[in-house]
Amino acid sequence: MRLLLTSSSRHGSTDEVAAVIAERLQGAGIDVDTCKPEEVESVDGYDAFVLGSAVYMTQWTPEAVEFTRRFSDVLSASPVWAFSVGLSGLPQGKVSDPKRIGPVLLAIEPEDHMVFPGRFDPGRLSLRERSIARLGGASEGDFRDWDQVRQWADAIAASLVG
Ligand SMILES: Cc1cc2nc3c(=O)[nH]c(=O)nc-3n(C[C@H](O)[C@H](O)[C@H](O)COP(=O)(O)O)c2cc1C
Repeated sequence: MRLLLTSSSRHGSTDEVAAVIAERLQGAGIDVDTCKPEEVESVDGYDAFVLGSAVYMTQWTPEAVEFTRRFSDVLSASPVWAFSVGLSGLPQGKVSDPKRIGPVLLAIEPEDHMVFPGRFDPGRLSLRERSIARLGGASEGDFRDWDQVRQWADAIAASLVG
């Protein structure tokens, strides 16, 4: 069983979630390649996919969106799980609605789409990013829930290798 895990991150928190997912899948005996979506040249030979992206301005990154478009034929014919990492500090509503990512994923009909809370560490951001996040009502902190990430990965492993 070979699985490709793509992770699109600007400031590292999505990549760290992806690394935990990869570790759990590997622990279940799955052969996992982890890549940035823009670095993938071919998806030949993979049995399944996990696609992850940070959420900025309610969207997946352009690189993550472009990947799903580029390989939509293979992805829509394969088992695909998707996850988004966004800021839990934002109030639920129009701006932070993870469903805005929906249209990207609709075409490939993933088995599941999980939204994990992310991290807001102003020290890692540009002045512009910091201002936008603050205007959005972001609270400072690391809201990632590693048990939740591990459980999600374990469920994928169970469905792939039983
Ligand atoms: C400029 C900016 C815009 C953001 N927009 C959103 C958003 O629309 N929805 C959301 O859930 N999180 C939003 N976030 C929070 C990021 O998704 C969160 O910080 C995430 O952990 C970043 O992942 P990364 O470290 O992998 O880049 C935003 C953060 C910044 C700095």
